[in-house]
Amino acid sequence: MNFQLSEEHLMIQKAARDFAQTELLPGVIERDEKQEFPYEQIKKMGELGFMGMMVDPKYGGSGLDTISYVLAMEEISKIDASASVVMSVNNSLVCWGLQEFGTEEQKQEWLPRLASGEIHGAFCLSEPEAGSDATSQKTTAIDMGDHYLVNGTKNWITNGNTASFYIVIAQTDVEKKHKGINALIMTKDMPGFEVGLKEQKLGIRGSDTHSLMFTDVKVPKANRIGEEGFGFKFAMKTLAGGRIGIAAQALGIASGAYELALAYSKHRKAFGKEISQHQAIAFKLADMYVNIEAARHLCLKAAYDKDMHENYDISGAMAKLFASQVAMDTTIEAVQVHGGNGYVKEYHVERLMRDAKITQIYEGTSEIQKIVISRAILTQ
Ligand code: CAA
Ligand code: FAD
Repeated sequence: MNFQLSEEHLMIQKAARDFAQTELLPGVIERDEKQEFPYEQIKKMGELGFMGMMVDPKYGGSGLDTISYVLAMEEISKIDASASVVMSVNNSLVCWGLQEFGTEEQKQEWLPRLASGEIHGAFCLSEPEAGSDATSQKTTAIDMGDHYLVNGTKNWITNGNTASFYIVIAQTDVEKKHKGINALIMTKDMPGFEVGLKEQKLGIRGSDTHSLMFTDVKVPKANRIGEEGFGFKFAMKTLAGGRIGIAAQALGIASGAYELALAYSKHRKAFGKEISQHQAIAFKLADMYVNIEAARHLCLKAAYDKDMHENYDISGAMAKLFASQVAMDTTIEAVQVHGGNGYVKEYHVERLMRDAKITQIYEGTSEIQKIVISRAILTQ
């Protein structure tokens, strides 16, 4: 067993840390306040290879492993979780799914632009009546011979308006239940594709979340990813990896809040000494440190499992379940360590606290992760 990161891993971690400090930190408060999408920053992340980290270089990607991806996600998320969710969706839900299950034509057409950050993608599974209960798809993709006719609504879609490439999950054969679902490539310029209003959110406010409406959208059969009826399996397999990305996002939010709380506690004085010298504060820091270290191990273990082609459904679910709880606990305590300053925007921890909450909801709520984990351990 080797807990040592390689030289390459350390370089990627440093590159992401430097980028986050120099390019994401300036303006992060304003983007959160105004719900502004980080266009420029995402473009630069593409240039640095962060938007297609695990994509094969022959399709324009960085050809890196999942451990590198986790390290970069942590560093980016310490500073700006809105930018990191765009990165996570593009890397693990869009590029990975397409590279793994797409046809050669689909990969050649889309991956180079997605991996370079020229464009980014969206993954559209959730619906008004199908969130956790993802098999209850109401969006239909009726087989019309050479194309599917798509009708329905998708909810809460990250990159909903800014994306140029959409993977849409839809029901073709109701009788076959989840075995009658397809994954289709769609674009906004298809007639009948409409983007709904932008959601006004508690956190990750710089990211772009919309509902999507489809009315008689014609989608060529060539746009299907995988075999007929593979769409639900495609979504589950893709989400299994996506959960590692969101776990790393939660880890980053937690470690960002911890670093701020640690620094603040060393210079803020009360009752004649630094607050870090009061045991109540020092113990909070100790708890944060231990929890973050444990979350990091779970994230890296899940990434390692994926890189080693071992099953990562459970390790990814464990990493997301635990890291998202750590993100919530750590950010709440980081606000507490900052006292009144924790409650105002310029100290960053209130934003991290608001951003932390989503990691317990999207890509499968914490309750859903427990379903995945408990089913697995009960059938072992
Ligand atoms: N890999 C491959 N196949 C899988 C799988 C996996 N990890 N998990 C399930 N499946 C397969 C099952 O084997 C089954 O197929 P068979 O009948 O052929 O065996 C099929 O999928 C249905 O599985 P279940 O019977 O377990 O289905 P279920 O109705 O009990 O639901 C669930 C399972 C895990 C709860 C699933 O519905 C789920 O993950 N729900 C949460 C949805 C979710 O995570 N949404 C996230 C949207 S994207 C997002 O949120 C992005 C973002 O914010 C940034
Ligand atoms: P529900 O499924 O209605 O759940 C409500 C509550 O009931 C939750 O606490 C849940 O855990 C619990 N619950 C439900 N079923 C069970 C059960 N069987 N046992 C125990 N508890 C249960 N989706 C996409 O497809 N693509 C995206 O890009 C995307 N981005 C998102 C971005 C944001 C900001 C948000 C808020 C959501 C996004 N989502 C996206 C949707 C997200 O994945 C869903 O919100 C999530 O899966 C939960 O579904 P729901 O909101 O319908 O909640």
